Amino acid sequence: MGKRFAVVLAAGQGTRMKSDLYKVLHPIAGRPMVLHVLEQLKPLQLEKIATVVGYGAEDVISAIGDKSEFVTQEEQLGTGHAVMQAEDLLGNLDGTTLIVCGDTPLITSETYQALLEHHEETGAKATILTAEAPNPTGYGRIIRNEENQVQRIVEEADTTSEERLVQEINTGTFCFDNRALFHALQNVSNDNAQGEYYITDVIEILKNEGETVEAYLTFDFDETIGINDRVALAEAEKILKRRINEAHMRNGVTIIDPENSYIGPDVEISQDVVIHPGVVITGKTYIKSHVEIGPHSEIENCTIGEHTLITQSVVKDSVIGKRNYIGPYAHIRPGSKIADDVRVGNFVELKKTSLGDHTKVGHLSYVGDTQVGSNVNLGCGTITVNYDGVEKHETVIGDHAFIGCNTNLIAPVEIGDGAFTAAGSTITKNVPEDALSIARSKQVNKEGYALKLTKRKK
Ligand code: UD1
Ligand code: CA
Repeated sequence: MGKRFAVVLAAGQGTRMKSDLYKVLHPIAGRPMVLHVLEQLKPLQLEKIATVVGYGAEDVISAIGDKSEFVTQEEQLGTGHAVMQAEDLLGNLDGTTLIVCGDTPLITSETYQALLEHHEETGAKATILTAEAPNPTGYGRIIRNEENQVQRIVEEADTTSEERLVQEINTGTFCFDNRALFHALQNVSNDNAQGEYYITDVIEILKNEGETVEAYLTFDFDETIGINDRVALAEAEKILKRRINEAHMRNGVTIIDPENSYIGPDVEISQDVVIHPGVVITGKTYIKSHVEIGPHSEIENCTIGEHTLITQSVVKDSVIGKRNYIGPYAHIRPGSKIADDVRVGNFVELKKTSLGDHTKVGHLSYVGDTQVGSNVNLGCGTITVNYDGVEKHETVIGDHAFIGCNTNLIAPVEIGDGAFTAAGSTITKNVPEDALSIARSKQVNKEGYALKLTKRKK
């Protein structure tokens, strides 16, 4: 195996997306499509990757970061012209160059690998990755001669009515002998229906020079779809979702309705997890074994411990322990850390809050910037008053504390271990350990006063 390089084409605007966002940055399964491409290139032992940027260059470069080198295509004069921009970086090297479009995000590294191997084994100067499209509209067609050898690629706009019937399409992915590529590119013209310099023309040029040109036909057309508009974007989302979900199911995860479960590519899920319909799990999330995620939950960048149940809740950037029971309708906001055997019930919002083992916050509470110990009971309607309009303040609640219903805890404030607050209290001062704090007005009963008010008789 000689040296391998890659050129990723990502300079186009993506007019057909009709978007302010540049095409290659549109996310699929939560990840910009060009990053799917770069992810799949990773295992291929490439010496150099050059990404061609143009429209939205700054944004594209910052999304890709150090996963690639960059060359700029100032004017978008076509895919052939785009590849030419990599000449300074690659032109003088011996080896194989893989050309990939930034808008074909579903091609897997296995397919790239198979293409590279086919190319290297046959010793061809060019190998096209092709597929049989059920509906080839919009793709370049592969034109073969009577001996079934590839002759050229013709773009949709330049096809004859007969050529339009060809179902074998150009996936936009090629392997080239690097020197032959940059040599042939010099002879590409823009004399075609779109007035562009096509990379696809290199095939016919090499063929006319008597070089060997190969096609490697992949059987999975779904993998090769090009994303030109939002219809294809949704199609890609669906295909990738199926691929991700199937991998999890094969690993022992129950997904009750895979069509309606959205799991990001960086999510790790252990065996015997159950995922109900309408669940969205994204970012760097790790779900440990025997967790159950109930319907319509949203989980992003979290670790969820074994045997925890989460139903109809939103949990972000937080660490959740084992055997917790969360929801329905809990909202756990970034920076929260929940220990084991904890109950977080309906309409409870936590923010940057830690809860110790066996603590309960069952109903209708807001707890923010708070450290709560273990075995604490936060009664229904407990509110930490953490914001004075200028700054946020912290609350600390010790182990075994019991916070009565409808307690306001005006931060900064500390509740000692084992302390109680009476229901309806507004706590402004620290409560020592094991104390009972009552901070509410005394009740006054005025006998018969209701009759007087309503002018009723007994
Ligand atoms: C291209 C192929 C077509 C193939 C299809 C597969 C050509 C001429 N056509 O068509 O044969 O079937 O992909 O999906 O190659 N780009 C640049 N600079 C440019 C133009 C495009 O960087 O000047 C980039 C785009 O950002 C995109 C990729 O090249 O990522 C493909 O361009 P696009 O305009 O989508 O080509 P298609 O019409 O889909
Ligand atoms: Ca395309």
